[in-house]
Amino acid sequence: MDLLYCILIAVCSLGVKANVNTYVRTFEQPEERISTLKTVCYYPMSNAINTTTKDPIPEGFNSTLCSHVIFIPTIIDRNNQIQPATPSHAVLFQRAIPVIRQQNPELIIMVSNGGHFDPVMESMKNISQFVQSAVVLLRKYNFDGLDLDWEFPGWPITEKPKGQIHNFSIVLTELRKSFEMEAVQTNRTRLLLSAAVAATKEMAEKIYEMDYLKKALDFVNMMGYDYNGWGLLSPLTAYNSPLFPGSLISCLTVCSIKYAFNTNNLAWSATHWGSWIGKDKLMVGIPFYCHAFKLLTPLMHGYHAIATGRGECDMAAYLCACDALKKKNATRVFDNAAKVPYLYYGDQWVSYDDVQSTTIKAKWIKENGFGGLMTWNMKSDDYEGVCDGKTKYPLMNAVLRTIHNQI
Ligand SMILES: *[C@@H]1O[C@H](CO)[C@@H](O)[C@H](O)[C@H]1NC(C)=O
Ligand SMILES: *[C@@H]1O[C@H](CO)[C@@H](O)[C@H](O)[C@H]1NC(C)=O
Ligand SMILES: *[C@@H]1O[C@H](CO)[C@@H](O)[C@H](O)[C@H]1NC(C)=O
Ligand SMILES: *[C@@H]1O[C@H](CO)[C@@H](O)[C@H](O)[C@H]1NC(C)=O
Ligand SMILES: *[C@@H]1O[C@H](CO)[C@@H](O)[C@H](O)[C@H]1NC(C)=O
Ligand SMILES: *[C@@H]1O[C@H](CO)[C@@H](O)[C@H](O)[C@H]1NC(C)=O
Repeated sequence: MDLLYCILIAVCSLGVKANVNTYVRTFEQPEERISTLKTVCYYPMSNAINTTTKDPIPEGFNSTLCSHVIFIPTIIDRNNQIQPATPSHAVLFQRAIPVIRQQNPELIIMVSNGGHFDPVMESMKNISQFVQSAVVLLRKYNFDGLDLDWEFPGWPITEKPKGQIHNFSIVLTELRKSFEMEAVQTNRTRLLLSAAVAATKEMAEKIYEMDYLKKALDFVNMMGYDYNGWGLLSPLTAYNSPLFPGSLISCLTVCSIKYAFNTNNLAWSATHWGSWIGKDKLMVGIPFYCHAFKLLTPLMHGYHAIATGRGECDMAAYLCACDALKKKNATRVFDNAAKVPYLYYGDQWVSYDDVQSTTIKAKWIKENGFGGLMTWNMKSDDYEGVCDGKTKYPLMNAVLRTIHNQI
């Protein structure tokens, strides 16, 4: 795709620069806010949890880092019932949740599901089976709410039928109705409902009925990552999660008219999602993992260099980038336009987020008045403090320092 856009070199270097500058300036000026920002952290469970350990808290889990934690995944069984994905997950919920609640009574604990969701949406009966099972599961294990990570209803590229777009809205509406009814009937706090949603313009505008989402969801977890990764149609190095469009210098090497209306970044997504569902409901996603590329030649190692495949750290946790910087002959570059770093060594090129970019993003999210931020994920932060030999959860702690005004 990128190569198709490689025309209009003159237009690109002149017109675009002005465009990007005004775009950045349209954001609100910072104002002092008391931090009520939500920090929503996904915790992905490994398939087999060792349920015989003395400590019921699973590896890499921390009860005091976030305001909300979302365990993922669960599954949907053949009767449209949402269930723990493995027997060991059921044991984990039973053992760990009471202990987590003791450690941090304020923590909101939720559970998410992806799974095979197509059949659920095919009839009202199926939707109703799913909805009822959700209430049962949530109350059984003492969760505070449900998150739907359905990637992605009605998305044509994955051949999902178009009818899912509206049916997904119905699922959300029915869940919300049923959570409200249950709260009244049992005199308990209503269960919360959130969804993980696509960030890019091409997906978001196509597959979500925003009015329904706004009405049914307590908040939205915007997956502010995977903007770029290696593919046959996108063979150029680019960032997993740029806050703003990348450096304009690259226009001189590979000119892309995409810059003239660049929507492929966190600022565009967050601003538009905020206008669609309300800023206060928006959790802006920050990745703690890498996208990596294998360069055609070590001699071309900039932003938008040609790559021939995925790199060694692709989809790996932050620690992979940190280790690469330490052990290999690596160079780190911070793109001051995109506000994210990349590094390269030999024929390897890695886009990642570190303390610097995470801090800038958290600050931007706070200053622009969003409801909060989401991180994918707690376990891909350096939870053992391996990177510098002492700091546990360096990225999440950078977020916390920033939103609590310590930076
Ligand atoms: C599970 O944990 C127990 C106690 O720490 C240990 O003895 C056992 O080897 C572990 N099992 C597995 C499969 O790792
Ligand atoms: C959880 O993280 C906080 C903040 O980094 C830290 O103070 C605390 O010791 C951690 N708790 C555990 C059990 O690791
Ligand atoms: C409803 O759910 C069942 C069980 O998952 C599935 O077999 C069936 O195809 C679904 N669709 C309809 C229209 O019943
Ligand atoms: C959407 O729901 C309607 C009504 O329940 C059903 O007839 C239709 O097959 C569903 N479409 C999809 C793609 O699930
Ligand atoms: C509902 O719960 C509240 C406290 O959570 C209690 O004060 C109230 O009496 C309860 N109402 C009924 C009808 O049980
Ligand atoms: C490391 O990089 C420097 C300068 O880029 C180069 O001179 C040196 O040969 C490299 N070393 C290795 C082991 O690749």
